[in-house]
Amino acid sequence: MEKINKKRAAITAVAHYVPDKVLTNFDLEKMVDTTDEWIVTRTGIRERRILEKGASSDMAVEAIKKLLKIRNISAEEIEIIIVATVTPDMLFPPTATIVQRKVGAKNAWGFDMEAACSGFLYALLTGAQFIESGNYKKVLVVGTDKMSSITDYTDRNNCILFGDAAGAVLLEPSEDENLGILDHIFYCDGTGEEFLHMKAGGSLNPPTHETVDKKWHYIYQDGKSVFKVAVIGMADVSEEILKKNNLTGDDIDYFVPHQANLRIIDAAAKRLGIDYSKVMINIDKYGNTTAATIPLCLSEWWQAGKLKKGNTLVLASFGAGYTWGSILLKWAY
Ligand code: COA
Repeated sequence: MEKINKKRAAITAVAHYVPDKVLTNFDLEKMVDTTDEWIVTRTGIRERRILEKGASSDMAVEAIKKLLKIRNISAEEIEIIIVATVTPDMLFPPTATIVQRKVGAKNAWGFDMEAACSGFLYALLTGAQFIESGNYKKVLVVGTDKMSSITDYTDRNNCILFGDAAGAVLLEPSEDENLGILDHIFYCDGTGEEFLHMKAGGSLNPPTHETVDKKWHYIYQDGKSVFKVAVIGMADVSEEILKKNNLTGDDIDYFVPHQANLRIIDAAAKRLGIDYSKVMINIDKYGNTTAATIPLCLSEWWQAGKLKKGNTLVLASFGAGYTWGSILLKWAY
């Protein structure tokens, strides 16, 4: 394969899709023993979106179609599609291949990446490697999750938290060496499995009547345990990437945290000493959309004209595994 010059990878377009159906806290009050007040105080969530028909690939496709329009390119120009998701359409084939067919990206190959709530950041860094290798010029990175498909709407501990959405970014070689993905710090800790998982459907517990009766096809989360480590993990890794790059909160234009709980976001923002106006927050409208939260934030802020070329961003996530990490980048368009 002929090499092009080695370049930094930059996000050159972003778009998102959210389903129309809104599930509010007041709707949930009628479904489980909860209150709007409890949910808002403990999580910051007021409503979330639900995909009534279709699968994760359909939301990804809608986001990608918008992105192609924004960048004014055709689907045939895409070379790789990486889909981050914990709710693939099926266990196989890869959702990326379903997306490839549906958008008509005839010249692309692709694969899925499963790193739970850190899926988008892991996929973004992976995509960046292909650009930086010099061998690829257009890589699509998508975060899409239909969390409603694995949520038990009789379990008040979990059903209040999650929603459905997709977000997509295009990675291309940066025109300017100073813009694009600058640095990352990633971690994982497999002891987290115990506290956040879905027991059935994989090779450990293939689905049976028994696994369904036991509701093992739904998210299991020990919220309190996850909360404690998420607060520390996301704050630590965000602070670490600033220190590593001799930056302070004042040098950052936007902090873009995974949206799992407003209290986790608040703790991380406080630790960075960053002004609250510079923290991207939309958890109130969408809840936790797993792999989609970060591109969904980026896309909404870009659409609102608040993201500017040259802005310095810290993206941060924490999720099942445990997996967590941060990416430092300079916005390139
Ligand atoms: N409505 C009303 N009460 C509820 C409730 C609901 N929807 N869900 C739980 N409760 C109750 C609990 O049963 C508990 O009652 P008890 O003390 O009588 O047992 C009480 O509220 C407090 O529960 P607790 O678990 O201490 O609440 P919390 O403040 O920890 O908040 C979460 C719960 C799930 C919102 C929070 O723990 C969380 O966000 N966890 C991490 C999520 C996350 O980051 N995931 C990782 C990435 S995806």
